[in-house]
Amino acid sequence: MEVDFNKKIYAQITAIGGYVPENKRTNSDLEKITETSDEWIVKRTGIKERRILEDGLATSDMAVSAILNLIETYQKDIQDVDALIVATSTPDMLMPATANIICDKLGIENVWAFDMNAACSGFLYALDMGASLIETKRYKNILVIGADKISAYVNINDRSTNILFGDGAGVVWLEPTNEVAILDALLLSNGTGKEYLNIEGGGSLHPISEQLLLDEKRYIKQDGKVVFKNAIQSMSDTCLNVLSRNDYSVDDVNWLVPHQANKRIIDAVGNEIKIEEGKTLVNIEHYGNTIAATIPLCIWENTSKLKKGDLLMLTAFGAGFSWGASLLRWTI
Ligand code: COA
Repeated sequence: MEVDFNKKIYAQITAIGGYVPENKRTNSDLEKITETSDEWIVKRTGIKERRILEDGLATSDMAVSAILNLIETYQKDIQDVDALIVATSTPDMLMPATANIICDKLGIENVWAFDMNAACSGFLYALDMGASLIETKRYKNILVIGADKISAYVNINDRSTNILFGDGAGVVWLEPTNEVAILDALLLSNGTGKEYLNIEGGGSLHPISEQLLLDEKRYIKQDGKVVFKNAIQSMSDTCLNVLSRNDYSVDDVNWLVPHQANKRIIDAVGNEIKIEEGKTLVNIEHYGNTIAATIPLCIWENTSKLKKGDLLMLTAFGAGFSWGASLLRWTI
């Protein structure tokens, strides 16, 4: 349908793609490395396996594969893209942005492209940024990507993190429409979580050094219990707030798409906001926590369940802390 730019413009998702590496790290692999068990991991997290990207490849490679999947599925022309946002905490390099590397690999030029780091909430932040750019009427074809090679920062000998994380990438294509589509996002953050979930090393505070490697500061660390509690409360609160400020109730939601960090967190949020059973999309079993990629990957895997016009509520929580919830009408 022709878009009338004199009327209100919404951003709509017109295509979606995803990619996970072939290589699996199963619970039984981890049983051989640290003192743990398949039974404990499944019971406490819901995770059975994760995907691990091979050495020599990086976040941009997974993002490019996800974009190629989108292009093939929806017959999009990559040369139409005028902006590209990458939510990632694991860029290929500190400079240039992974977004620039992706543009180069795809052969696109003169694109407004940059990286955004909001950890596990990154995709929701990037989606809101992309939607806002569409609403300015200056951009018409935007790729919003969530991609992370978190395995590069996981200490394989640390059972408090090695069970949780895996690699992956997901992407959506945004275009303008006059129909109601991406409706609202309530995104929040503070710094109170910085000591409970972080990768300390390699930044300007702790540049790479021998001591940093000895201190194991290159790895992701967390206080699982603190993160767990904050995640449930923050996601539940923002879900209820974003619903109420748009005059919706939880019963209006067709699908809840939560960040996939721990099945117990997902279940607790569902209970807290009282969403009907069967309306929550979950794929944590196969991929674990892929940081900024969990939400687009989970939608991508479940597209056959979604109907045009369905109301989706997305919610995430991550390092910072950063968290939030978004509402959108499914438009594919
Ligand atoms: N395998 C087997 N046993 C383990 C274990 C593992 N990988 N990790 C911990 N345990 C043991 C502990 O030693 C403890 O034993 P004890 O009772 O004899 O002392 C028991 O299991 C419970 O440990 P606890 O740390 O309390 O587990 P938990 O239920 O809090 O689960 C996490 C740990 C990490 C799975 C959980 O806290 C979590 O998922 N937190 C949120 C993490 C997250 O989402 N991070 C990213 C956010 S974006």
